[in-house]
Amino acid sequence: MENKKREAFVDDLSHDGRGVLRLDGKVYFVPGALPGEKIEFEPFRKRRGQFVGRLLSVLSASPHRVQPACEYFGTCGGCTLQHLAPNQQLAYKEKTLLGNLSRIGRVEPENLLPALSGENWHYRRKARPGVKYVPKKGGVLVGFRELGNSYLTSLRQCKTLEQRLSDLLDPLHQVIAQTSGFQQVPQLEFAAGDNAIAVVLRHLQPLNSKDLDLLTKFAQHHQVQLFLQSGGLDTINPLWPEDPIPLNYLLPDFDLSIEFSPSDFIQVNGTINQSLIQQAIDFLDLKAPDSVLDLFCGLGNFTLPVARSGVPVTGVEGEHRLVKKGRANAAKNNLDNVKFIEMNLAGESILELGSSNYNKLLLDPPRSGADEVLKHLVPKIRPQKIVYVSCNPATLARDAETLVHGYGYRFTHAGAIDMFPHTAHIESMGVFESGDV
Ligand SMILES: C[S@@+](CC[C@H](N)C(=O)[O-])C[C@H]1O[C@@H](n2cnc3c(N)ncnc32)[C@H](O)[C@@H]1O
Repeated sequence: MENKKREAFVDDLSHDGRGVLRLDGKVYFVPGALPGEKIEFEPFRKRRGQFVGRLLSVLSASPHRVQPACEYFGTCGGCTLQHLAPNQQLAYKEKTLLGNLSRIGRVEPENLLPALSGENWHYRRKARPGVKYVPKKGGVLVGFRELGNSYLTSLRQCKTLEQRLSDLLDPLHQVIAQTSGFQQVPQLEFAAGDNAIAVVLRHLQPLNSKDLDLLTKFAQHHQVQLFLQSGGLDTINPLWPEDPIPLNYLLPDFDLSIEFSPSDFIQVNGTINQSLIQQAIDFLDLKAPDSVLDLFCGLGNFTLPVARSGVPVTGVEGEHRLVKKGRANAAKNNLDNVKFIEMNLAGESILELGSSNYNKLLLDPPRSGADEVLKHLVPKIRPQKIVYVSCNPATLARDAETLVHGYGYRFTHAGAIDMFPHTAHIESMGVFESGDV
């Protein structure tokens, strides 16, 4: 592609937070550019059928442009929206959500919920930084992937990670570089509970006793639970302490303490998670003789608060270890009106769930959405109310179309949830009511 400077006005933001502009019949995606801006850019490559441009300068800035707070902005692929004022990030997320609903699903919610938002910085309690040995860049790198490629940005701190986790980045660079196996460590997993923090260090070759000693001292000094992982998830074992206390997070509004292991799925943003649960419970409007089905329930993040509200609830989840955690968490919190079922919700077996009378349904599927559940289970149980928590507006839109145009549900509410400030990830909630109510 010919590289030369061009000037143009930016029309829009793409779903991943890049500026979108049209010039000479082509659509260009320019990271760092904002709608309404006049920019100078360099068209520099065509990637997967898209023309990508490099921002050279902003000739007339958007009133919503702010100074990015992080020194790695523009290089690290972790955050792509730091240059946009936080209230405008939320406006962009709402617009993208509604745009997906209308374009993909041909649906419009009757009410737009105020976006759920919280702290903009140091909110991430889970992360999976990569590790790589790159002699040209000074040795061991620890960080997230760069924007638009698979190289690692070497981070000494991260303003989205919980402070306790961010503080470990620099010392981890140093300790990993001192081990004999430093070229064989591809990844770390960070998890922050309310009671303790943990790091899982993945290693491709056995570590020697000197390495283990170094890592143990690191863990003791930083008071972090350190786990080693030599293979799959079942090879995760504690190095220090030998018998760590289980990590937990508290849900004080429901008098719950939820235990988890460092590699378990938990919602990334603890504060937003509490608001999200409260909003879901409010919409479920629980009262006797309700019976709730919570699909894709993980370790019971919504299931247990529903149970605490006093109505019977069944949580369904595909991961065996999460189902076990859900049951253990129910017992620890003295809840006996909850049942967990292990099941693949993309398979035929979901029809088994149709033999019980659930009148309210909560769904929190992965990015691929809940196609099978909607196709096979919803027509069978026809719940009065469906609260759908989504991490992908495109699949929420597709599923909303099925509910509204396929089964005649009312789409009463939708709203964005700012689970991941400064990133283009959009979490959202949709609420549906059966016309039969
Ligand atoms: C977005 S997470 C939500 C977990 C939980 N609701 C929470 O708030 O912590 C999605 C969950 O769906 C589970 N899952 C993904 N695909 C599945 C499938 N085909 N069948 C059953 N569960 C599945 C994952 O293991 C994960 O726990």
